[in-house]
Amino acid sequence: PYVVTEPCINCKYTDCVEVCPVDCFYEGPNFLTIQPDECIDCNACVPVCPVEAIYPDDELPEEYQHYTEWNEYLANQWRELGYNITEKSDPMPDAEEWETKEKSEEDILT
Ligand code: SF4
Ligand code: F3S
Repeated sequence: PYVVTEPCINCKYTDCVEVCPVDCFYEGPNFLTIQPDECIDCNACVPVCPVEAIYPDDELPEEYQHYTEWNEYLANQWRELGYNITEKSDPMPDAEEWETKEKSEEDILT
């Protein structure tokens, strides 16, 4: 499956959800995740993310390896809460600023 990584945190541009043929994105307060059992590996979301946050799990950069588990864990929680997202919405208010800031998985709000 494909995995959403750090650059998405506090940005949430949501272009990805519009192109996903199986609607497998789930939304938290400041991050999106892909539900791994639903993703069909079509690659459509990768080129549309303006901050290049999405990777196939076997091509994750070393520093983003742990995001595979994060996507599964959070997507399952958010799926249970009904937080499926299929339509583009406004990015986070300070998205542009956050593009260049240091961040980590600890910044993900759940
Ligand atoms: Fe959806 Fe395809 Fe991206 Fe998987 S790779 S999340 S199926 S758009
Ligand atoms: Fe996040 Fe990129 Fe989608 S910033 S919401 S993965 S378009």
